[in-house]
Amino acid sequence: MHTATKIRSSFEDSIARFHASPALQTLASGRITLAHYKAILREIYHYAKEDPQIQALAAVYFRGDDRDSVKMFLKHAISEIGHDRMALADLAALGEDVTEVPLTNPLPTTIALTAFPFYQVQYANPIGYLGYLYFLEHMPTAAGRSYAEGLLRAGVPESALSFLHEHTTVDVAHNKLMDEYIQRLVRTEADLDAVCYAIDVTGDLYALMLQGAMEDAERPRRRAVRHEEVARFVSSASEIGSRAAA
Ligand SMILES: [Fe+2]
Ligand SMILES: [Fe+2]
Repeated sequence: MHTATKIRSSFEDSIARFHASPALQTLASGRITLAHYKAILREIYHYAKEDPQIQALAAVYFRGDDRDSVKMFLKHAISEIGHDRMALADLAALGEDVTEVPLTNPLPTTIALTAFPFYQVQYANPIGYLGYLYFLEHMPTAAGRSYAEGLLRAGVPESALSFLHEHTTVDVAHNKLMDEYIQRLVRTEADLDAVCYAIDVTGDLYALMLQGAMEDAERPRRRAVRHEEVARFVSSASEIGSRAAA
């Protein structure tokens, strides 16, 4: 099967499983609440803050002609900077105090999503990272509008949907970049299998991240301070909160 076709078909399987997951069923059936959405935004902040740096890390492993793609890869990574803050701004638009969010740990189900691309890049095939990116770029363009409709029905105001709207529209251009990366970087059967595997894993871990957030909204767990983050902030907690929500 042609590389692009096989990757597309992996994504279609993955998004179908994603839509059948408990979290997405909660959204589709109208049982999602504002509290669920707030908890999801916190977790989106946590994974999205790592994404530009993970993408740059993947480029460290490009060899030979792969290096011709470093510039476009890093430009793409740079364009993702600040998307974490959109999630915090959405949370602030819902009246939440976001001061503590950057200073605390993500939920276990979120760190699983974040840890996977680090693992894929550093301990497996770095080209497989493209599968992580592929799922994240294609999921909102495939169905972001229906997610937004579900959230609006649940009472979420438009002003708190900036992260989702941004990714429903801007990621259309990023989908085109994905086609380019696949054409340039997926050179072997092993690369192709790694990309398809990563699409599969990312879809499942994203669904679990959403489910973990929803469960936390119902039974909040104590959030430990993330000392590595706190130690590197020079501003006060309230300044961090207002800067993050700006
Ligand atoms: Fe983004
Ligand atoms: Fe993107």
